[in-house]
Amino acid sequence: MPVVYKKAPGKIILFGEHAVVYGKPAIAIPVKNVSATARIIPDISSKPGHIHIQAQDIQLDSDYSDLAEDHPLSAAIRLTLQKVSPVHIPSFTVQISSTIPISAGLGSGAAVSIALIRVLSSFLGSPLPTEEVSNLAYEVEKIHHGTPSGIDNTVIAYEKPVYFRRGKPIQILKVKSPTCWVIADSGEKTPTYETVSAVREKHIANPEKYNAIFQDIGDITRRAKTALIQGEFTALGQLMNENQSLLEKLDVSSPMLNTLIASARSAGASGAKLSGGGRGGNMIALVPISKVHHVEQTLKDAGAKHVISTTLTEVHDR
Ligand code: PMV
Repeated sequence: MPVVYKKAPGKIILFGEHAVVYGKPAIAIPVKNVSATARIIPDISSKPGHIHIQAQDIQLDSDYSDLAEDHPLSAAIRLTLQKVSPVHIPSFTVQISSTIPISAGLGSGAAVSIALIRVLSSFLGSPLPTEEVSNLAYEVEKIHHGTPSGIDNTVIAYEKPVYFRRGKPIQILKVKSPTCWVIADSGEKTPTYETVSAVREKHIANPEKYNAIFQDIGDITRRAKTALIQGEFTALGQLMNENQSLLEKLDVSSPMLNTLIASARSAGASGAKLSGGGRGGNMIALVPISKVHHVEQTLKDAGAKHVISTTLTEVHDR
């Protein structure tokens, strides 16, 4: 039996974070220059059904049967086995590795789940369709994030820019012109569930005020969808800045994120905002190609811990 492997990209949210939890749309794109990989090595020397897991990045080297049920890797394997229900499970080792920074809003958890679900279902002879892969990864996300909107598993499983609304069919965005995005890590980490619950408390205390902010973010995201598809960069950058002001009203930005956002804008970005849960994690800037290096360097000088750039190229019908 051959060794099989599958990769899954990172992701970044362009518009609509937090409001997406309340039913508003959000836009996210895959970040293909970072990825998670799951590799299966058949093990003919062990008895059938013996599954071993190695994930060096998190110092894990354990049998599947020894992992807690709610461990994300264990959950991804269990859900895939339940879905595929193979007659026979050969013995194997699965190795997980990833170049996606952890807890930085780049979707590392969902990418690992998706690579694992894909490689295991393929190894068992029943590769799952993308929608199923995304649904299973969503189940894994729920174990650890409580009430995830589902945007991470969707954009990572489809590997395309998506316009996402909870409970609605996803829309793949077919962009007409390439765009360059510079992503900088503030080095601060706040788990997404913390910012999501902070926003939830504010919403419960003052639903009128916060519903109006979510509504405005939703309107910006709808306009951004058209601007992104049409390649209207100036409008898109302006919408990012407006979205950032509303995220500040939700109190999910941070002084460091604000510094990086201001630095990117002054170095020539068309627009910049935080991305993901906030209070740390990443910011993202839309940057004309000629200014990418300058913006990257400016962000590093301003204290960014990691800076990566990604280009969203035209998406065509297959
Ligand atoms: O921090 P990230 O990139 O996982 O994004 C969180 C996005 C939120 O809208 C705040 C939460 C969610 O589940 O969509």
